[in-house]
Amino acid sequence: MDVNGLLQTALEGPLRHMEPLEQDLFKIRIQQHWADILRPFQGLYGHRDDFEDWLSHLVILVAKAYAKRPSYLRFHDIASTEKPDWFQQSSMLGYVCYTDRFAGNLNGVHDKIPYLKELGVGYLHLMPLLQPREGQNDGGYAVKSYREVNPKLGNMEDLADLAETLHQNGIHLCIDLVCNHTAKDHEWAQNALAGDKAYQAYFHMFPDRTMPDQYEETVREIFPDFAPGNFTHYPEIDKWVWTTFNEFQWDLNYTNPAVFAEMLDTMLFLANQGATILRLDAVAFMWKRLGTNCENQPEAHLILQAFRAFSKVVAPGLLLKAEAIVSPPDLVPYLGVGEAANKSCQIAYHNVLMVMLWSSLAERKVVLMTHALQQIPDISSNASWLTYIRCHDDIGWAITEEDAAAVGLNGFAHRSFLSDFYSGRFPDTFARGSTFQFNPKTNDRRINGSLASLAGLEKGMLSEDWGGVEFAIGRILLMHSLIFSFGGVPVLYMGDEIGLLNDESYLDDPDLANDSRWLHRPEMDWKLAESRHDWKSVTGRIYQGISHLAKIRQSVTALHAQSATYPVWTHNDAVFGVIRQSARGRLLILGNFSEHPQFVSRGRLEALGFGGLLNDHLTGEPVELFGDLGLRPYQSMWLERA
Ligand code: GLC
Repeated sequence: MDVNGLLQTALEGPLRHMEPLEQDLFKIRIQQHWADILRPFQGLYGHRDDFEDWLSHLVILVAKAYAKRPSYLRFHDIASTEKPDWFQQSSMLGYVCYTDRFAGNLNGVHDKIPYLKELGVGYLHLMPLLQPREGQNDGGYAVKSYREVNPKLGNMEDLADLAETLHQNGIHLCIDLVCNHTAKDHEWAQNALAGDKAYQAYFHMFPDRTMPDQYEETVREIFPDFAPGNFTHYPEIDKWVWTTFNEFQWDLNYTNPAVFAEMLDTMLFLANQGATILRLDAVAFMWKRLGTNCENQPEAHLILQAFRAFSKVVAPGLLLKAEAIVSPPDLVPYLGVGEAANKSCQIAYHNVLMVMLWSSLAERKVVLMTHALQQIPDISSNASWLTYIRCHDDIGWAITEEDAAAVGLNGFAHRSFLSDFYSGRFPDTFARGSTFQFNPKTNDRRINGSLASLAGLEKGMLSEDWGGVEFAIGRILLMHSLIFSFGGVPVLYMGDEIGLLNDESYLDDPDLANDSRWLHRPEMDWKLAESRHDWKSVTGRIYQGISHLAKIRQSVTALHAQSATYPVWTHNDAVFGVIRQSARGRLLILGNFSEHPQFVSRGRLEALGFGGLLNDHLTGEPVELFGDLGLRPYQSMWLERA
């Protein structure tokens, strides 16, 4: 395929009114990224007779989006190519919230910028805000129009305005792009339901149960409770439609290049509104293959790589964040491996770290965590984990049989223990959570609950057990210390910084009541937040503790996401250890996961290269080792040799 011919068409077409310098920039980018565009795109559609037509269609589509890119974003693009690690620096901290629950609507977010800046936030993820379907919409993940904002929150102009204001305040905007499925109310689905064959080819549709039954043999059920099965029958067209999630969410069919083109166009449109990070939802499910679980297929990765390469031409500063909550071995490829290293998404959720933090707290042991995290291979140098403790979703116990067996646990029994522990059934548990999506076929049980409630704050407060409250605060700060130091972009989940508890008010809303994930999606409690500077209040202790970690982190450049992360054995089963190492420095992070004082022997510290005089960044004090190193209950340390 002749790239110069395609370029000529773009220059004479969408780019013809642009300055010569802008045209040259487009040319350079296309030429630079051409090989990265061709490889995945050929892998996906190279077998088709109309392959070249699609390729030229996409180059024109990209040129059109390039011509429309606002100037402040062009400036950001250039600035970010000069500083490609901007999101990997130790000063980067994320915050995620629902626009309405945080600030009423998009315009309200402007007023909350000082609050975000006080925390040191550099990246704000506003949960799904595009036009969802009416009624039940899976928290906005059933999108009716990708080109309109949910009218309850504002309009597209408000979004673009907010993005620009955030940008001026040094905060990058992240929004969701639900690319695996649309709402059945989306125009494409509606056309398909009206019988339009071209639009029926946007989805996976079957005339009878033959294929669905075959697929069902190997695919998972994501919502076995309220949306069992993966296919739904629609009498108006007498077809079975692939619906991995809820009945009203239709999986898109990416074997059709028209779907790829639509989604790329949407992506560039949203990037041009000022989103600098796009959270790509449910990417693991984007390609189906009979006889497999239809997750993490090689083509799903090719789609992401092609998205990345095409989008680089228009918006080189745009980051793609993969939402793939999958088991450890399947996770790393979302950040690009092998020939795709540095050529896929730049950010992915570290759900293994998240799960292990909870697992270790329940067990008061870090053996499984240390082993499982040691198995995770290195990631691309220009990519970063997103480290988190809680998000809007449930916690699913992504623990493999192999990892469990390697440390003498039975995977099934351990996952059951964790579900019992966090749903509050286990004797003496500190947690108050609830079971989500019990699947009697697999006995899988996921967990809902807010960070504070799962960490023991709810139980402690309600029973006026102040020792219990103390431990809960310790757990909350320990987990934050680890997501801040493990390596990656740490993201705070709204309300966790002030210890918001479970919120049962969702039960009163018929559109939410059947989905208990709303238990941990409360309204921001601004009244409570007023006490955040009061050191004597529980809120203040949590808030000040997290703020302190965030401030220290900014100055510890060795925590840059490019520094290698090595989980190490501390020879104390209750103390997690991880070494962060690069030319920027060498740190030993320690965390005590029990409510008892613990020690790491001086000999072990020396063997890890941390003998002699140490500094703890968290206290700012030197640590002199006369004997073993002691850690208070739930204490963490960020140690460096003095
Ligand atoms: C993602 C979202 C989740 C949603 C699902 C389907 O996993 O995080 O909330 O239910 O995708 O869109």
